[in-house]
Amino acid sequence: MKVTIDRLGHLGDGIAQGPLGAIFVPGMLPGEEVEGDLQGDQLADFRIVTPSVNRVKPPCAHAKTCGGCMMQHASDAFVADWKLGIVKGALAGQGLEAEFRPIITSPPKSRRRATIAARRTKTGALMGFHARASDMVVEVPNCQLLHPDLIATFPGLQALVKLGGSRTAEVSLTVTRSLSGADVMVVGGKPLDGQLQLELARVTETYGFARLTWNGDTVALRTAPMQRFGRALVSPPPGAFLQATVEGEQALLGTVALAIGSAKKIVDLFAGVGTFALPLAERAEVHAVEGEAAMTAALAKAANNTEGLKRVTVETRDLFRRPLEDDEFKGVEAVVIDPPRAGAEAQMAVLARSKVPVIASVSCNPISFARDAKVLIAGGYHLDWVQVVDQFRWSAHVELVAKFSRP
Ligand SMILES: C[S@@+](CC[C@H](N)C(=O)[O-])C[C@H]1O[C@@H](n2cnc3c(N)ncnc32)[C@H](O)[C@@H]1O
Repeated sequence: MKVTIDRLGHLGDGIAQGPLGAIFVPGMLPGEEVEGDLQGDQLADFRIVTPSVNRVKPPCAHAKTCGGCMMQHASDAFVADWKLGIVKGALAGQGLEAEFRPIITSPPKSRRRATIAARRTKTGALMGFHARASDMVVEVPNCQLLHPDLIATFPGLQALVKLGGSRTAEVSLTVTRSLSGADVMVVGGKPLDGQLQLELARVTETYGFARLTWNGDTVALRTAPMQRFGRALVSPPPGAFLQATVEGEQALLGTVALAIGSAKKIVDLFAGVGTFALPLAERAEVHAVEGEAAMTAALAKAANNTEGLKRVTVETRDLFRRPLEDDEFKGVEAVVIDPPRAGAEAQMAVLARSKVPVIASVSCNPISFARDAKVLIAGGYHLDWVQVVDQFRWSAHVELVAKFSRP
């Protein structure tokens, strides 16, 4: 059967209209003609009859087998347009439109954190990313996504898996690049005993990791893993949220700063360890609110240790259950809000009736963003512009900053 792909699904798979409904073909681009055997709603054993002008040779040697990147077969220009289209589509779903600033995409080899799957084998350790929709682990020594410093940790990570991994169950290794070495967090490793702890500490030393956390316990701390946010140095707790690339973080921060202009009193909601709060405190008073106590503690400590910042206050608070109330926005000149994927329904409802002049809304989920945007607009805010930031290149993931202001 021959079909023509007419659109991409939310994970980047090609979709064609067949006689009985949608047909899904992975790794395709709109306009491509493809021939294969129809099995359910999938095309199997397919071959491309007419390729798209947007098709490129995947830059990564692992693209065929690794499920980490879904869009390596598409040109950068196509992916940029597609991601802009995802955000425009989400807004249109709420009956909204916006002016879009040109997309900012992080370069290849810039990811500073990754979660890697691993399994101990007869002879050593198998480590990498999952194949597409599969449990199979694909080794990725030439990954085009990860920062070279992360690739350089692979031998050390393999040594950890050999020591404390299992041959029957998978281990998950989250590795984050820091100024003082890799911060490694392992989940699913063998239970700790004295001997294992000693050996893990030895591997941490040998490979120069900053910290090793094993099944939730910090088993080795050579030196605190540090991140820089503006002038401030922060030591995030294990597993703390960080933007995926330094370039993406700078793009988000620059755009947030542009949105809030010369505001002198700022509230940063879902503040994490201070990605926005700390650099913004170089020119404005900031109240940072975050749900995880270990993260607010790291933020507060960094603020106290940094010379020349304006006043920074922090608060640990569940903003889903207990959003900031009307009177807490009194005198606030700008709000930065960067919720998790679920969005910030309760907090947006309060903001929508507030008098805050500017809101810089950061989001990793266009659907919840569009829903929240509708609430602000219904409350009288104007959506001035949207900046899409792509720090997950070759994936279907999108991030954005939007400026809302009260006319
Ligand atoms: C997308 S991250 C943004 C963090 C920070 N703005 C940054 O850029 O690094 C969302 C943050 O919201 C926090 N969070 C999640 N649920 C929360 C809740 N119910 N109340 C307050 N904070 C929450 C997470 O711990 C995380 O730090």
